[in-house]
Amino acid sequence: MKTPIRIGIIGMGGFAGSHHQAIARLEERGLAKLICTCDPNPAAFAAEQQNWRFAARGVEVYNDYRAMLHACQHRLDEVVIPTPIQLHAEMHLAAVAYGLPAYVEKPPTLDHAEFERMVAADARARKSSLVGFNFIIEQSRLALKTRLLAGEFGAIRGATLCALWPRPAGYFARNAWAGRLMLGDRLVLDSCFGNGMAAFVHNLLFWTGTGDLYSWAQIAAVRAELYRGHAIEGADTFFVEADTVDGITLRFATSHACSGPSGQTELIVCDKATLRYSVGGQVEIRWNDGRTERMQPEPFDPLTENHLAYFRYLNGESPRPATKLADARPFVTLNALAYLSSGRITPLPADQLSWKRDEKEQKDYLQISGMAAVQENFLVRGVWPSAAGWARSPAEVATPADLPRLPATIREMVSAVAK
Ligand SMILES: NC(=O)c1ccc[n+]([C@@H]2O[C@H](COP(=O)([O-])OP(=O)(O)OC[C@H]3O[C@@H](n4cnc5c(N)ncnc54)[C@H](O)[C@@H]3O)[C@@H](O)[C@H]2O)c1
Repeated sequence: MKTPIRIGIIGMGGFAGSHHQAIARLEERGLAKLICTCDPNPAAFAAEQQNWRFAARGVEVYNDYRAMLHACQHRLDEVVIPTPIQLHAEMHLAAVAYGLPAYVEKPPTLDHAEFERMVAADARARKSSLVGFNFIIEQSRLALKTRLLAGEFGAIRGATLCALWPRPAGYFARNAWAGRLMLGDRLVLDSCFGNGMAAFVHNLLFWTGTGDLYSWAQIAAVRAELYRGHAIEGADTFFVEADTVDGITLRFATSHACSGPSGQTELIVCDKATLRYSVGGQVEIRWNDGRTERMQPEPFDPLTENHLAYFRYLNGESPRPATKLADARPFVTLNALAYLSSGRITPLPADQLSWKRDEKEQKDYLQISGMAAVQENFLVRGVWPSAAGWARSPAEVATPADLPRLPATIREMVSAVAK
């Protein structure tokens, strides 16, 4: 394979539009060539097609991804799949059936059985597919994990993720699948944990993967409490605790039911130091002997850099994509076990919720009273919201042996909303 890498992008709207922009810039640099794209209703993207200069670039536009792949299969090196979560598997299968590797947006799927079928199907592609978890390729992350594996900070004792991304109610109305547990008979499980901030969850599993550089922690057991503040089918607030097979305890607190600035902090507690990593911010190493190291990662354009890294792999210049499908197994397992452990999604009562107006954005954000303290207590001390007065019973332990129960559990959650 040689540059320019020949690409087909499935989709034109939503995040597919960002991929179009990134690929157009890479095409200007002679590194990529967009051969084809599609959408069920291409006419709805007439303005975008003009802005992206499809006519001048000779881009073929289809209204069906299967017809596109069939017509263009011999002129493509890679297919990009930035489409709704529940369509990833069928689109990936269609691409690899022609031997074409795919850049599949995260999450690959949140249905663990479908995930295993995707992993198996990927063997049909000429090269491994990539899952678009944005931050694994960051140089500062790879350098720090190398130091972790070399034992510089001592053994890992635990790791936490605090990730708050405020989302207004309109976020859940932007398409048919946002905030949904199921669509028809397909599992969707869209949420802050499984989708919006999935990359940071995957990052924590990456830090605590104790094999080689590209290793992710394997999950042994999970406890979780899932809540909803917004009027959606799924959960918008997650408290999750997981034991890895290496005996490391991970804690995650993520929510879309919040206001103010977005933030995500990954913390890795080791015997000799605590590492604090905030994507887009500073990296800080606090040594137990009192020293502090601080680093400012290079500014980073995730989509462009991930495409470039994948091109290098496709060209044979690097040995592997940042996240292969099988590397996402701990993430898919952890997400599924969070639902199985929680057993239900607890609606937060009205007196625990309030709306905060962002005057600049002219949007209203739902917030949960006392959230900061509850999160801190959970992440630092392991005190569950249910023990701090949130109205639900404690979580049960779920292990990978429980995975086959996922579809039935999710169907019960859907019926509970309908009642
Ligand atoms: N990596 C990131 O930073 C990042 C950011 C945002 C979204 N995402 C991911 O991108 C994916 C898409 O999310 P979204 O919010 O843009 O979704 P979306 O519902 O807006 O869909 C994106 C596009 O997919 C295309 N599409 C939908 N159904 C199709 C079909 N049947 N055939 C062909 N094309 C079809 C359409 O062109 C649509 O506009 C998700 O997996 C999401 O998690 C990743």
